[in-house]
Amino acid sequence: MSKLTPPLPKFLRPAPPRPSEKERSSDNGEPNGKPGRADKLRESAGEGGAQVVGWLDERTGASPFLRGALYRKVPKGTNWFYTLGSATMFAFVSQAVTGVFLAMYYNPDATRAYESASHITNEVFLGELVRGMHKWGSTVMIVLLFLHMARTFVFGAYKYPRELNWVIGVVLLVLTLAMGLTGYLLPFDQRSYWATIVAVNLNASAPLIGPFLADFLRGGGEFSATTITRFYALHMLLIPGLIAALIGAHLYLVAKLGTTAPPWLRAEKKELTKEEI
Ligand code: HEM
Repeated sequence: MSKLTPPLPKFLRPAPPRPSEKERSSDNGEPNGKPGRADKLRESAGEGGAQVVGWLDERTGASPFLRGALYRKVPKGTNWFYTLGSATMFAFVSQAVTGVFLAMYYNPDATRAYESASHITNEVFLGELVRGMHKWGSTVMIVLLFLHMARTFVFGAYKYPRELNWVIGVVLLVLTLAMGLTGYLLPFDQRSYWATIVAVNLNASAPLIGPFLADFLRGGGEFSATTITRFYALHMLLIPGLIAALIGAHLYLVAKLGTTAPPWLRAEKKELTKEEI
């Protein structure tokens, strides 16, 4: 071993073979200490995974990209508050997965929507659990989103050169709230119906674009059977598609620019020596 290589810490050193393992080697007809047939098989099974990765890498050239994304330097002082963005992303993935299962049973027809939603809760296997996860998950995602936003604001992470990521974040916030609005109508019970009428009327009161926005949401001048199919299409396809694409852009910028150090550490300015200048 060269002098420069530090010795491996104790917990990383390979454990000495157990007596039973030595016996196994000699069982395979090899003298003690030398690898037997079983050892070689075990070794090549371990290499199998590396070979598959190598095969994929040779054809896709993905490893520099993955290395850049996974092996990033994080600033000193990185703490639990930095996990809020990933927690929000996990909440989004959970919403997408539970949403796919709900879509297998839900019917967005104005005459069938309420019935299909109650069918999910009362008759479908684990339906109540999945519907509950989706319903409470939406609140959890919005709470996490606000906490993540507060973290980036308090840590000053919105400043140069991360302004664009902040703007993408604001669009993500609006889209996530729009998911909540469009999803609320889907159970099509009295509460969701009247609450959505109030929400659309609020949108209608916005200056200039308000009436157009309300017409777009209702699918016409009045609430009708088209409204629920429109909300369903927005909730299922358009908004989650946009959110997924924007999360991709958001994470690309995080990987490219790195995360911001906590402000109390950035404040510590190191005096440079003459040589360093
Ligand atoms: C679906 C919503 C969102 C997801 C999944 C998400 C995800 C993430 C992740 C994983 C990170 C890196 C780790 C971290 O700092 O927590 C991050 C960083 C960041 N996010 Fe978000 N985010 C979302 C919404 C937002 C919102 C609403 C804002 C602000 C309006 C925002 C602004 C930022 C900024 C400025 C950074 C860089 C932080 C730094 O440099 O330290 N994000 N985001």
